[in-house]
Amino acid sequence: MKIAFVGKGGSGKSSVSWLAVKTLEDMGISTLAIDADHNMDLTSNLGLDPEKTPLMHKTEREFMEAVGLGENDRLVTLTTKEGSLPEFSFNPKDSYTASITTSISKTVDLINIGLGSPDVLYTTKCAHALSGPLKFYLGLLNAKDDVVIIDSVAGTDMMNYGLYAGIDAVIGVVEPHRNSVKVFEQIADLCRKVDIPFFGVINKPTDNEFYQGVKEKYGKKIIGEIPFDSAIMEYNFTKLSTETKGAMKAVMEKLQALPKRNGLSSIYKFQHSIKENI
Ligand SMILES: Nc1ncnc2c1ncn2[C@@H]1O[C@H](COP(=O)(O)OP(=O)(O)O)[C@@H](O)[C@H]1O
Ligand SMILES: [Mg+2]
Repeated sequence: MKIAFVGKGGSGKSSVSWLAVKTLEDMGISTLAIDADHNMDLTSNLGLDPEKTPLMHKTEREFMEAVGLGENDRLVTLTTKEGSLPEFSFNPKDSYTASITTSISKTVDLINIGLGSPDVLYTTKCAHALSGPLKFYLGLLNAKDDVVIIDSVAGTDMMNYGLYAGIDAVIGVVEPHRNSVKVFEQIADLCRKVDIPFFGVINKPTDNEFYQGVKEKYGKKIIGEIPFDSAIMEYNFTKLSTETKGAMKAVMEKLQALPKRNGLSSIYKFQHSIKENI
């Protein structure tokens, strides 16, 4: 199962991603955490120094080699090469995956994309190009019965360039606040347009008009509510309330029951839905 947490800045993506990874660790499920945000919070939340992890954005050439492309080839050509491409795996790790992961515990590994690292400042490429390999890596990654948790840049941008076209579901993290709901709705809309399964998690619920509105409009798509918990702010899993632990465990169980998609053909469909919409 490959899922990404997406939402407005401050909605709780990095905290909920951390909570998901720790919950899966507690459940004994092998997990790959991917930190795809500039501020590299998930990496820090999981106790690592972002400057001391391998950075995926630096391995574009190695990625191209791993998928059999030359330096000047375009990544998009991969969508028509199904069958002749390698499959990536983190349990056990193929050699490319091994070169970009950091082990956090017996069952948890991390990939830090590193878009916020100082060397990104001096490159001529924009963050979109730097996260290009991630898009295809995700499509070619076979997670089997294990779980991939991706923490995202705030907002909707990555949805527009199909970064998550090859994963199984996008989870909008929403606070019961007008602007948070606005971004959540935009993400839901984009997922509908490009056919990516979408679900929502309400973070820090309070019973107000926004909370009621989201529950009413999205119904069963809302797969959980994460209460305010000061142990989340401290990233202290053992101090979490029973309610918080139970809420996240229930979310993970629902997600694991979802059908898996064929990553590469989903990216292919995404590219085509764009062309058709132009
Ligand atoms: N359920 C929660 N309970 C308590 N604090 C939370 C919760 N979710 C998020 N926070 C706090 O809210 C702030 C923003 O969360 P963060 O995960 O960094 O958001 P994002 O990654 O979406 O920008 C952080 O200070 C975090 O500790
Ligand atoms: Mg964050």
